[in-house]
Amino acid sequence: TLENGVRGAERAVDAVEETVERGISTRFPLNSAFIFTFGALGGMLFGFDTGIISGASPLIESDFNLSVAQTGFITSSVLIGSCVGALSIGALSDRFGRKKLLILSAVLFLLGSGMCALSTGFLMMIAARIILGLAVGAASALTPAYLAELAPKERRGSLSTLFQLMITFGILLAYASNLGFLGHNIAGVRDWRWMLGSALIPAALLLIGGLLLPESPRYLVSKGKEREAFKVLTLIRKDVDQTQVQLELDEIKAVAAQNTKGGVRELFRIARPALVAAVGIMLFQQLVGINSVIYFLPQVFIKGFGFPENDAIWVSVGIGVVNFVATIAATFIMDKFPRKTLLIFGSVTMTASLAVLAVLNFTGDVATLAVPTMVLIAVYILGFALSWGPIAWVLIGEVFPLSVRGIGSSFGSAANWLGNFVVSQFFLMLLAAFGNNVGGPFAIFCVFSALSIPFVLRFVPETKGKSLEQIEEEMVRR
Ligand code: GLC
Repeated sequence: TLENGVRGAERAVDAVEETVERGISTRFPLNSAFIFTFGALGGMLFGFDTGIISGASPLIESDFNLSVAQTGFITSSVLIGSCVGALSIGALSDRFGRKKLLILSAVLFLLGSGMCALSTGFLMMIAARIILGLAVGAASALTPAYLAELAPKERRGSLSTLFQLMITFGILLAYASNLGFLGHNIAGVRDWRWMLGSALIPAALLLIGGLLLPESPRYLVSKGKEREAFKVLTLIRKDVDQTQVQLELDEIKAVAAQNTKGGVRELFRIARPALVAAVGIMLFQQLVGINSVIYFLPQVFIKGFGFPENDAIWVSVGIGVVNFVATIAATFIMDKFPRKTLLIFGSVTMTASLAVLAVLNFTGDVATLAVPTMVLIAVYILGFALSWGPIAWVLIGEVFPLSVRGIGSSFGSAANWLGNFVVSQFFLMLLAAFGNNVGGPFAIFCVFSALSIPFVLRFVPETKGKSLEQIEEEMVRR
């Protein structure tokens, strides 16, 4: 009876969806630019909600009279929620589809952002941040798979990089909103409530986008809905003729027919190499220390180099701009160079800049090192943004076979949040343990950065230019 209930509900949702879609597609002819931009929009909320708290938390701390540990928990609760959200969404998305769950994540984003802004105390804030985390985690597992499944293989790298581009844009928006609202209690409402509440706008856009977006054609094939899959493919491959669309569909069908069962056991049975690649690449993406810069750079310059708070915030805005602009460049090079070449280039750049940074800060006169440190951090960010930033998210959408793609990318994404949590939780302690010398923590990140090179060479498959079906054949045969 429960099964029947679920099936009934699914049918009802499908019916509503079809009616809405029919109405909409006659009024707004969707084009692929719209589909990929809105498809990637979850990234903006990911960047915004993880980036905003650095500016808002000191204000909340004093308003709610919180201890340092409580404030820390307001920051990290999102990361814990994300890990849980990422893990739980995968099986659901293999069962119910990518689109419905994107809509669900948009609803959670709205709820979480609203609750954050209206929060009356510590507990409500934590509940709101956990809900936001669930949404961020869900979006981070769904979006890469959704984009990869819609994109034509020649442009899949660039189109999937839109997710990271949205993340870096969201981070910039968060910095801007921190600077813009700080100290302005507009209409008698506290500044931090405006900061956190401004996430309602992208959340509403994601909800609207989610309702308009088509379901992934590959998911549709996996559920035997080939006619619908054909319709979606025709919609997003406007530049090719119907025979080519049919060929693509045939390839998807042929590979989908080989394994139909999904689930965790199947993931471990058929997709172990993909799992090692995805989880490893996600852990390295975090352990090179990226979020020590994204979340804590102002603190580094205040504590390490005695900068006044305002100047330190501007340093982080500068780095945020470098990150965003370099990620725009990444969308152009992504389908020109092999992913593994870009990853190695990124690792070498990060290892070198971190090594120089650490040596300088250990041996030089710290008073003269603020500017060189800034420059070296910019080089490090450049290396990350052109490689590991986008590619880790691109790869988790690509390496898994269709039957377990949702659940596989969900494991990859959860590993990312776990790594993020570890770095964010311990970075400031580590900095303090080295007497506020940034050389200390950055030397550790340098070691992980160097270790990522043999990992890429040994465990990461090359996916550029191949269809998802071709990758699946190669990965399952490995
Ligand atoms: C990647 C990381 C994320 C980080 C961002 C910085 O998306 O997964 O944690 O904040 O890059 O650009």
